[in-house]
Amino acid sequence: MSHIVTETRDRIARIELARLDKKNALTAEMYAAMADALAAAEADRDVRAILIHGAPDCFAAGNDLADFVKRPSFDDSAPVMRFMRAIATAAKPIVAAVGGPAVGIGTTMLLHCDLVYAAPKTRFQLPFVGLGIIPEAGSSMLLPMIAGYQRAAELMLLGKPFDAEKAMAAGFVNEIVPPESLLERARQAALDIAALPPASVRLTKQFMKQRYAKPLAELMVEEAKVLTERVGSPEAQEAFSAFFEKRKPDFSRF
Ligand code: COA
Repeated sequence: MSHIVTETRDRIARIELARLDKKNALTAEMYAAMADALAAAEADRDVRAILIHGAPDCFAAGNDLADFVKRPSFDDSAPVMRFMRAIATAAKPIVAAVGGPAVGIGTTMLLHCDLVYAAPKTRFQLPFVGLGIIPEAGSSMLLPMIAGYQRAAELMLLGKPFDAEKAMAAGFVNEIVPPESLLERARQAALDIAALPPASVRLTKQFMKQRYAKPLAELMVEEAKVLTERVGSPEAQEAFSAFFEKRKPDFSRF
């Protein structure tokens, strides 16, 4: 069964994360399906906006940590890299509806979206440092840029969970919406975009993003190189083992 559900209706391409038994932790297969879905939406002349969501109480628990244990390489052709490039360079607007866990890439992918709606109890987290790895998806540039350095440093260095209000104060959530109307609110925003002149929408998004498109692409390649080293590091392997053994990691010997 695919853990990514896609549907195109009313000029909106919908991408749903659906691996709820694992809190929508993202596998290579899921990244590949999302990259393909984004490419298909970009190529489809009838699509005017893209909507990404999970369940109202579960967006994504980040990269599947079992995949990290296998020490994957983040080269250009890796599904996660294809997905990151696709979301970072999408010409069509992307709207996200987020609730429940939004961990790791479950948060960093939002920095590439155009409109983000979040349920009040969304549990955002950037746990990279505590996992012995580093931030990805260009977030080491985007978050300081969006939130300001100290706010980003708190979220990235301490890596503690934070709620939708804090995410809104950090600047990457547009509106806090009750879980029961979350998807509808995001879908309405996508419909509003779909009703606008498409070329004007595309050009406006392009102008807003073009100044940092090249540095962002370069940074994502740099981050990926370091991430490939870091997932194999003893620090990271200790953190991943601790997660699956349901214990606190012990970094005292490093
Ligand atoms: N990778 C692999 N499996 C994951 C996962 C992940 N990132 N996140 C959750 N799961 C699995 C759990 O192992 C558990 O599986 P099991 O039922 O077979 O034991 C199941 O999903 C439910 O997770 P659980 O931790 O029991 O749910 P929770 O509601 O108590 O907590 C989270 C939810 C998201 C806060 C917690 O699962 C978590 O912190 N996950 C890891 C997040 C992370 O570090 N991601 C990587 C970022 S780079």
